[in-house]
Amino acid sequence: MQLPLRRFFIICLLLIVLAIANSCKKKSNPAPAPVATLKGNAPFYMGSAVTSNGIQSNYFYQGTLLTEYNSLTADYEMKFDITEPQPGTFNYAPGDYIVNFAAQHHFRMHGHNFIWHQALPDWVLNFSGDSLAWENLFKTHIETEAAHYKGKVASWDVVNEAIRDDDGSLRNKDVNPGDGSIWRRHLGPDYIARAFQYAHEADPGALLFYNDYGQEWGGAKLDSMIALVTGLKNRGIPISGIGMQMHIDINIDTAGITRAFKRLAATGLKVHISELDISVNPGNDPNIVFTSVLQLKQAALYQFIAETYRKTVPVAQQYGITTWEFCDADSWIPVFFKRKDWPLPFDAHYQKKPAYFGLLKGIGGKE
Ligand code: XIL
Repeated sequence: MQLPLRRFFIICLLLIVLAIANSCKKKSNPAPAPVATLKGNAPFYMGSAVTSNGIQSNYFYQGTLLTEYNSLTADYEMKFDITEPQPGTFNYAPGDYIVNFAAQHHFRMHGHNFIWHQALPDWVLNFSGDSLAWENLFKTHIETEAAHYKGKVASWDVVNEAIRDDDGSLRNKDVNPGDGSIWRRHLGPDYIARAFQYAHEADPGALLFYNDYGQEWGGAKLDSMIALVTGLKNRGIPISGIGMQMHIDINIDTAGITRAFKRLAATGLKVHISELDISVNPGNDPNIVFTSVLQLKQAALYQFIAETYRKTVPVAQQYGITTWEFCDADSWIPVFFKRKDWPLPFDAHYQKKPAYFGLLKGIGGKE
């Protein structure tokens, strides 16, 4: 080979070696690790209560939902006072907005709720009629709403908070102003079973839940809740699960949580943690500061709940964990109880709190 030609080949060879070395270098450069998300790590659905207004008007609200969650519950848009503000006049626009958003982005949609002693319009509170007229009002409301959302809502809280806190009997007359139930008063004790039947007839595909709070207290309320749902199940009433609201606070006795998961799981029904939030100011201290000690205590409790749920409730019965909203700025607690509080996994600026990382760890995820 002549000298210039040889040189040319050597240079070519060198260039090829350099190119290969360079491409190897590029390949070994690791891509940034994906950031863990709740829905990406949980072995069950991760949900939040949401408002149509939050989704519509707040970029951070909508963005966080899309990244972190795969199940939605309407905060108030599907309750009686919104959906049937006048007798026989139904208003589904606010609920439809959430349901359409859920469908578009492949969230599971959980309906909340058909029958509750609160969130009732005046016309229902003032309604006077015989038992047949009451039954008609009750049946029409359930059937019409269930039919409207048929095929779009995976599951419903059919009856919400029917049981009294003190003795576990059904709410009936007011003990404290406004805490009785017009439904029990006018429809008799078996209204709960009939609510499930009406809902099932209108949407046979939906899973139906009884939803309440205070399971973690144990005692009469838990006993009668278990007796209620077991009785329904044994009678062949179409009940699929129990919702544990879990509006709890930082001083809770965690043994009660474990006991409630075990006893509810033993019914064989699905168990949905349906409205979780953890108050850090149950004593309503106006000067409270959300210190790092409180933040970590809250985080540990979120972790404990998720971990215990995952390990205590059989997989087939894990309907998921839903928090009641997800950002402290949108929590109902400061408004409803008129106090400072920080009950949710994201802070008022949609930043992840220690509570978020506790929850993530508890569902089995890595930070
Ligand atoms: C709350 C809503 O978040 C508030 O906006 C409303 O003012 C009151 O109701 N248990 C339930 C939920 O089942 O429907 C409640 O939601 C919180 C307590």
